[in-house]
Formats: sequence, C-alpha cells, structure tokens
Amino acid sequence: MNKLAVLGASGHGKVVADTALCCGWDMVEFFDDAWPSRLVNGSWPIVGDSQALQDRLGDYQGVIVAIGNNAVRHAKLKDLLVSHAPVVSLVHPRAEVSRFASIGVGSVVFAGAVVNVDVKTGVGAILNTGCSVDHDCVLADAVHISPGARLAGTVSVGEKSWIGIGASVRQMINVGCQVVVGAGAAVVNDVPDNVVVVGVPARVVSGS
Ligand SMILES: CC(C)(COP(=O)(O)OP(=O)(O)OC[C@H]1O[C@@H](n2cnc3c(N)ncnc32)[C@H](O)[C@@H]1OP(=O)(O)O)[C@@H](O)C(=O)NCCC(=O)NCCS
Repeated sequence: MNKLAVLGASGHGKVVADTALCCGWDMVEFFDDAWPSRLVNGSWPIVGDSQALQDRLGDYQGVIVAIGNNAVRHAKLKDLLVSHAPVVSLVHPRAEVSRFASIGVGSVVFAGAVVNVDVKTGVGAILNTGCSVDHDCVLADAVHISPGARLAGTVSVGEKSWIGIGASVRQMINVGCQVVVGAGAAVVNDVPDNVVVVGVPARVVSGS
C-alpha cells in the first residue's frame, strides 16, 4: 500500500490529497500543528503534528508539503529534504505538462493546468487549477501560480512569489522575488522584489 503524508491540513491540502488519489496513491494522511485539536481534514485523517511527521517518515512512501504560504512551504520543504524524506511531486492526470518541462521536487500541478515546453520550476511550486505557464518560463523555488493565472512565454518569476487568481503576465517579463500579483492583474512591466502589484495594467501598491 502506497501511503502519502501531507504536511498542512488546509483547503489546499484537500486538493493535494484528492490529486494524490488521482495519481494512484492508495492512502493519504495529514500532519498539521493544529493536531490534536483537529483530527480530520475533509475526507482524510490528521494523525500528528510536524514533529510527528519527522519521527514517522519511515511509515510513508511519499511526503509533500501542502501549505499555501510560500515562505512557510519552502522552509518546511527544506527541512524535509535535509531529513532525506521521500519528497514527491504530484501532477494531476488531467494537467498537460510538456515532456520538455521540468518540475521541481515537492511541487503540485493541479487539474487543467497547462505547462508548456521548456518551462522550469524550482522546488515546491504550486501550479494551481487551470493555470497556464507558457514556453520557456522559469519559476524559482516556492512560487505559486493561482487558479486561472496565465504566464505568457519566457516569463521569469522569483523565489516565493505569488501570482494571484486570474492574473496575466505578458511575455518576457521578469517578476521579482516575494512579489504578490493581485487577483486579475495584467502585468506588462517588470516587477521589482518585495512588492504587491494590482490592476490593469498592474501598478505597485505596497512594498519597498
Ligand atoms: C492584492 C491583495 C494581496 C491585497 O490584499 P490586501 O492587502 O488584504 O488588500 P485589501 O483587500 O485590504 O484591499 C486594499 C485595497 O486594494 C484593492 N484591491 C485588493 N485586491 C485588489 C486586486 N486584486 N486588484 C485591484 N484592487 C485590489 C481593494 O479594493 C482595496 O481598495 P480601497 O482601499 O480603495 O478600498 C489581494 O486582494 C489579492 O488579490 N490576493 C490574491 C488572491 C488570490 O489570488 N487567491 C487565490 C488563492 S489560490
């Protein structure tokens, strides 16, 4: 029996668990620091906290971090990799990922996502439901492309940046590190590190 441990019992975690079953995993169990006050996440049990996961890694054939916050997901993923945990990635069978794309370990690609030729992602990417990431895009570690967001060709996205739901990024644009692109924004100029941009066209609304 193939058992997958999922760290992070959130709504996002439920999509990760559901995707895992679609990918052929037999059983999913959650770990979350809300344990033992929370014991279930939707249809799946929460069986321990993050320390318990470290102690019981040998019980699982795979482990994945399902925490939406990019910085926290990245930190937890790095801890697990240092512990030589069997970190896996999940690509939903109804996502379209080019054979020439490279998806970093600990990433998820949800249903309806399209990842085109020569895309590269770092570790811990979330390529959420129905997003598209076109040819030659390069995503650094712990990037989240939200549902329905669109990256045109040859876009780069820096570490821990979050492209919001339904946002679009024009081709050849460089989005910095730890950027938030608001829901529905249209990014037509490069974006510096550590800012929030919103609107059509996207403008900086906060950050350095
Ligand atoms: C941009 C964002 C991070 C701002 O969040 P926030 O700091 O909590 O901002 P607030 O909701 O307090 O809104 C502040 C102002 O910005 C405006 N605003 C917020 N998000 C906006 C957006 N995406 N586009 C345009 N304006 C936006 C609000 O209308 C408000 O304007 P006002 O001051 O004139 O009333 C957030 O709204 C957003 O778009 N997050 C992405 C959500 C997402 O993609 N979810 C997918 C999960 S998988």
